[in-house]
Amino acid sequence: MNSARLEFPSNFSIEQNWRDYSADEHAIWRLLFERQQHLLVGRACDEFLDGLGALGVAADGIPNFRRLSDVLDAATGWRIVAVPGLVPDDVFFAYLARRRFPSTCFIRRRDQLDYLKEPDIFHDICGHVPLLMNPVFADYMQAYGEGGLKASGLGHLQHLARLYWYTVEFGLITTQEGLRIYGSGILSSAGESVYCLDDPRPNRIGFDLRRVMRTRYRIDDFQQTYFVIDDFQQLFDATRPDFAPIYREIAALPDIEPDALIGSDRRFDQGPFSGQPNPGKKMGRRLIAAQV
Ligand SMILES: [Fe+2]
Repeated sequence: MNSARLEFPSNFSIEQNWRDYSADEHAIWRLLFERQQHLLVGRACDEFLDGLGALGVAADGIPNFRRLSDVLDAATGWRIVAVPGLVPDDVFFAYLARRRFPSTCFIRRRDQLDYLKEPDIFHDICGHVPLLMNPVFADYMQAYGEGGLKASGLGHLQHLARLYWYTVEFGLITTQEGLRIYGSGILSSAGESVYCLDDPRPNRIGFDLRRVMRTRYRIDDFQQTYFVIDDFQQLFDATRPDFAPIYREIAALPDIEPDALIGSDRRFDQGPFSGQPNPGKKMGRRLIAAQV
């Protein structure tokens, strides 16, 4: 992706006001975290679990962005910026291009534990931020922001949005222990954390940039197709070329339905893929206490 520049969108940032969270809001965080803690060991990739532990994100309550940003900044130069909700695409891309991750501050209600249309702080912080501790993924996210600024100008946001959806939000990665989750939309969802690996219905296909960009997706249900990367370097390398010729190439081809398979797909065998945790892997701050 070639880079483009936009003024830093400081007018969208707000204060987290961490001291204003109620005891019940911290309790909801605890509930969500503990539920995922049980599900994600043996399902989430090591890079996510390591990042979570090093950040000190745990069950004891909603994290303070300032403290998290200091740990994150020291590791990969990223910081968290509090925003009131979804921000315009160009603002979102500009934040990423500057290694700033825009995070919501509010937490879902108790009647929304299993499904929430908009991202909340649990999705943004527990789902997205741990992987920003990984240097290669951190660079991928910045490159994505730079590519987004360019795609806006070329009229290909839809194609680039699919790349984000099928990687950052709903990506799987292959490991020696089997498939693992790195997509934050899955990691922050109890139901999809199990479904994506254990259910025989969805397609699990080897990552292919053009195939991903052509594939439509559903926002109102579990995914019908997951794309599997070999490692984060593959993802970063895929974003290096200038996307302009790729956009032109795929613009001439039809979209692919969310549940469709095509002849060139590299399919992974059907689930269940969830397995035993790697030795020493736990979800939470106790793993790397010295860095907290
Ligand atoms: Fe997200």
